[in-house]
Parts: sequence; C-alpha cells; structure tokens
Amino acid sequence: MELPPRPKLFDFHGVSMTNYFTGNWDNVQNFQARPDDILIATYPKAGTTWVSYILDLLYFGQTAPERQRPIFEKVPFLELLIPLYPPGVEVLNNLTTSPRLIKTHLPVQLLPKSFWEQNCRIVYVARNAKDNAVSYFHFDRMNQAEPEPGDWNNFLQRFMDGKMVFGSWYDHVTGWWEKKQTHSKILYLFYEDMVEDTGRELDRLCSFLGLSPSAEEKERVRGGVQFDIMKKNSMANYSTNPVMDFKISPFMRKGKVGDWKNHFTVAQSEQFDEDYKKKMENTQLRFHTTI
Ligand code: A3P
Repeated sequence: MELPPRPKLFDFHGVSMTNYFTGNWDNVQNFQARPDDILIATYPKAGTTWVSYILDLLYFGQTAPERQRPIFEKVPFLELLIPLYPPGVEVLNNLTTSPRLIKTHLPVQLLPKSFWEQNCRIVYVARNAKDNAVSYFHFDRMNQAEPEPGDWNNFLQRFMDGKMVFGSWYDHVTGWWEKKQTHSKILYLFYEDMVEDTGRELDRLCSFLGLSPSAEEKERVRGGVQFDIMKKNSMANYSTNPVMDFKISPFMRKGKVGDWKNHFTVAQSEQFDEDYKKKMENTQLRFHTTI
C-alpha cells in the first residue's frame, strides 16, 4: 500500500499536528496505561530511538528471539495512526510482554490521563534546540509521512514559530521540565549528556527504573547502543521502514552534538539565539550546544 501525499499541518488544541497523530484521538485519550508501563517521551529527533533501544536491551536482552523485530515495532508509538501499520493503541492493547515500552511525542498537556493515574515511570529526553532543528529538517526531507520541509531557512523559521509536527520545541521541553519539578516519576535526560558519557546516563536510567544489571550486562548494553553499532543494526536503524528514503538522508544520520554549526549561518545563529533568550527567559532549563 502506498502512502497518500505528504500530510498538512493544522492546529490541534493549540499544537501543530498532522492527521497521522490525531486521527485516533479518542482511543489515544482513553488509553489505559498499566502501572508498570514505561513511557519514553520526547520532542521528535531528540534521541527517542536511542533511549528506546537502551530500554529494550535492559529489559529484554539482546538475544530473546521474540525481540528480533524493528525497534519501532517493539516500542509502539502511542498516537500513531498511519496506513501500512496497525494503530499504536491497538498494538499496545495487544501486548502481553511486560513492561510495555511506549513511545510518545505528545506535549505534556496532551498526555492521556491514565499515565498519571497509574503513576507510570516516564523517561523524557531533550536535545538542544539547534541540533534538534537540524535533525528534524533532514528527517522531514526523507520521511514521506512528514509535511514538506521546504528549504533550511524556511524550516528554521517554522521551527522558531513552533509550526512543526508536535508543536513548539520550546513549549515541549519546558512543559515536561515544569512537570518534572512536581512529579517524581519523570527522569529528564539530555541527549548531550548521553553522548558525553553514555555509561553514566545508563547508570541514572537504571537507578530510576530500579534495575541493577551486572557490570558485564551494562557494558554489553553500552556497547550495543553506540552510534556506529546501532547505525549498522537493521533492527535499530529504521532501514526496514517503508516511509523513509535513506537515499535522501539516513535515519541514523550523524549522532553528534554541534552539527548545527554545519547548517546555521552566522546570521541565522544570532537571530536564533536572540529569539531563544526571549522564549526561554522564564525557565531554569539549560542545554549544552557543544560538548
Ligand atoms: P541526527 O539526525 O542528528 O543524527 P529520534 O530517535 O528521536 O528520531 O532521534 C534521532 C536522532 O538521534 C538522530 O540524530 C540520530 O542519529 C540520533 N541517534 C540515534 N541513535 C543514536 C546513538 N546511539 N548515538 C547518538 N545519536 C543517536
């Protein structure tokens, strides 16, 4: 089956969305979380797949035969409703393994209430705005299920205006950050910290999840989730996903902190920084844009 033409953005409860993420809305909002569910929440392109794969290895190991499936099937995408695949909610409802690892890009205010009622553990991953924007641009170029990205300059302007699928980066990262201040079941990770010291962040994850893998197991996970290894792993690199054209750009593209310097002109960077200061002036949330 072929995908229809690229979707259009529209306003949905104050957040830019496409119908691939709103089409199943009643079922998403009524989704019944289970207490041991683990939710991986991110703004798109912040390191979702990386953390998903880490959790998959921590809970299910490298070799379990039933886990020899692509990561986007093992960690279902809650709000997804796209031709070619069963709806995320349906896949999740039929999952018998536990814990269920669940992916979402929803901003905090749109998360189904059941996750709060069941007090589920939530791992949020945030990535600095500039690298996040660059990664999103290349993703939208290669993914037929995303709106047309246009040229880089226009895309960047749209990013600053919050007119992206799943809305404003600024609102997303700060919304989840504020929630984390009062909710102890949210672990807020940074992509930059994971690149800087994956082992340290793995320790933080394990302690949040109440897991105590042996040093050997931890090392196996750390080794298996390195960028170059994951890029070659067809179960982790999205190469089996039919909506993506890797000839335009691979899913596992660069995996770096600071790649924005290869995309932003000096003028773009200055304008972005100035706008960023205004948008982020009321939050304590701080990012590294280089390491
Ligand atoms: P780049 O486009 O900058 O390379 P998501 O999974 O949220 O869609 O995020 C994708 C981004 O995470 C891509 O960024 C991808 O390369 C990066 N990524 C995925 N696995 C990674 C890993 N093991 N190490 C570093 N970056 C990784």
